[in-house]
Amino acid sequence: MRKLIIAGNWKMHKTVQEAVEFTKELASKVTGASVEVVLCPPFTALHAVAEAAEGTNIAVGAQDVYWEDKGAFTGEVSAPMLKEVGCRYVIIGHSERRQYFNETDETVNKKVNAVLQHGMIPIICVGETLEQREAGKTEQVVRTQTEAALKGLDPGLVGGLVIAYEPVWAIGTGRTASAEDAQNVIRYIRCVVREIAGDSADTVRIQYGGSVKPENAAELLSQPDIDGALVGGASLQPDSFAGIIKESGKVQ
Ligand code: PGA
Repeated sequence: MRKLIIAGNWKMHKTVQEAVEFTKELASKVTGASVEVVLCPPFTALHAVAEAAEGTNIAVGAQDVYWEDKGAFTGEVSAPMLKEVGCRYVIIGHSERRQYFNETDETVNKKVNAVLQHGMIPIICVGETLEQREAGKTEQVVRTQTEAALKGLDPGLVGGLVIAYEPVWAIGTGRTASAEDAQNVIRYIRCVVREIAGDSADTVRIQYGGSVKPENAAELLSQPDIDGALVGGASLQPDSFAGIIKESGKVQ
C-alpha cells in the first residue's frame, strides 16, 4: 500500500523565524500522524526548519534545485547543498517555475536526475492550463510532461518518485478539480508511468495539488489513485495544514 504524502509548498513565504515557529507548532499538532508530512520552505529557511523538525515526523523539501553540483551559476543552489541542510524531497517543475522562470521539460529531467543522484526524492509537478483543458489536451499534456521528466531514468528508481498532478487553473484560485476528474487524470498518469517503468507504477506516489484545504481533502484523498496532496495556500497556517493531515489520516 502506498503511504499518503502531504507536502506544504510555502512558495515565497515566511522568514526563518516564522518558519521555525510554524514547524514547532505543526509538530505538536501532527504527532503520530499516519501519513508522511513534508514542509517545503524557501531556501533561506531550509536549514532552520530541518533542525526544528529533527526528532519529529516532519520531513523537509526544497522548492527547486539546479542540476550541476557546483560552478559559476550565480543564484543557483545544487542538490548536494540541499542534501547537506537536511532535505529529503525537492519539488521540480512547479507550474510557477515553468511559467515565470523558463523551466522546460528538459530542465525538469536534468533536475530529476541530479536529485536522485544525491539520494533525495523528486516531487515532479505536471498539469495542464485552462486553455489546454478546454481544448481537450489534458492527457496529452500530462503524458508529454511525465515522459520527459522520467526520460532515461533507471526503471528501478521510478517506483520511489513522487509526482504531483496540479492543474494550473486550480492553483491558488480556489477552484479545485472534482475528485473524479483528479482521480481520472492521476490514473492516466499512472498508466503512462506503467508504460515507461512497468510495475514501478504501483509504488510511485501521485499527489493532487490545487486549492486543497481541510474541507475538500478527504474526498480527494479517498480516491484510489490519489496518494497525497501538494498544498500551497492552506499550508501557510498550522491549523489548516494540520487539518488536511488529520483528514488524510481518516482515509489512510
Ligand atoms: P494552492 O497551491 O494550494 O495554493 O492552490 C498549490 C501549489 O501550487 O502547489
